Amino acid sequence: MQELLLIGIGTGNPDHVTRQGAGAIRRADLILIPRKGAGKSDLAGLRETIINAVTDTPPRLSYFDIPQRRDDDGYLRGVDAWHDAIAARWQAAIGTSPEAKVVALLVWGDPSLYDSSLRIAARLDPQPRTRVIPGITALQALTAAHAIPVNEIGAPLVVTTGRQLRKNGWPQGVETAVIMLDGECSFGTLDAAEFDIWWGAYVGMDEELLISGALDQVADQIRTTRAQARAEHGWIMDIYLLRRRN
Ligand SMILES: C[S@@+](CC[C@H](N)C(=O)[O-])C[C@H]1O[C@@H](n2cnc3c(N)ncnc32)[C@H](O)[C@@H]1O
Repeated sequence: MQELLLIGIGTGNPDHVTRQGAGAIRRADLILIPRKGAGKSDLAGLRETIINAVTDTPPRLSYFDIPQRRDDDGYLRGVDAWHDAIAARWQAAIGTSPEAKVVALLVWGDPSLYDSSLRIAARLDPQPRTRVIPGITALQALTAAHAIPVNEIGAPLVVTTGRQLRKNGWPQGVETAVIMLDGECSFGTLDAAEFDIWWGAYVGMDEELLISGALDQVADQIRTTRAQARAEHGWIMDIYLLRRRN
């Protein structure tokens, strides 16, 4: 392999793929497709749909299973070992097509935002030339779906995780925070009377769900909707923007 393409594909809507992304898919000799464990959505089907939509003759696809992440040795150590394990799977999948010069991965959203692909790519040996093709992030899909600006005029914002919000509370020095990777409705740790929320699940997809309003008015509705949707689909991805009221 000479070149590795990390192609941002947006957040589940095949129309999120940019022309630059489609061109990169066509240039690939081999595309690696991740598969998650049973009961989780691996969205492999969506990746195949995208590939078939933008190619006449699809490139070779090589599937690999995403290993389980261990949390028993501390979060960061667990993530580091997990990245090593995924890099080994990539290496094995690439090894099935030694003639492939250009290898690609279709990365959910954009490779720069809460995504490990660049860190995993840095573990490959020998190192390929790595190129990133930007994609629409879940943050952009959320603000577009609600038709809201992400920031207030001239003001900063924080993008963080549910885990961080639970652990550290509301971030210092901002009125706006976007929360990702939150399986526990961590907005419940805040004083609900102080915030407005714009929440979305499956944003950009056919299943899209959106709720917004004063946090103390809609928090329970979000919890119930989220639990029902998760039970119905077997998986959920959600994201929300919180703004402190003036
Ligand atoms: C591992 S991160 C990947 C983020 C991705 N790289 C991006 O650019 O948006 C996964 C998190 O992104 C958010 N997310 C991704 N796709 C989403 C979608 N279609 N609807 C709502 N949230 C989504 C959720 O917060 C989810 O927990």
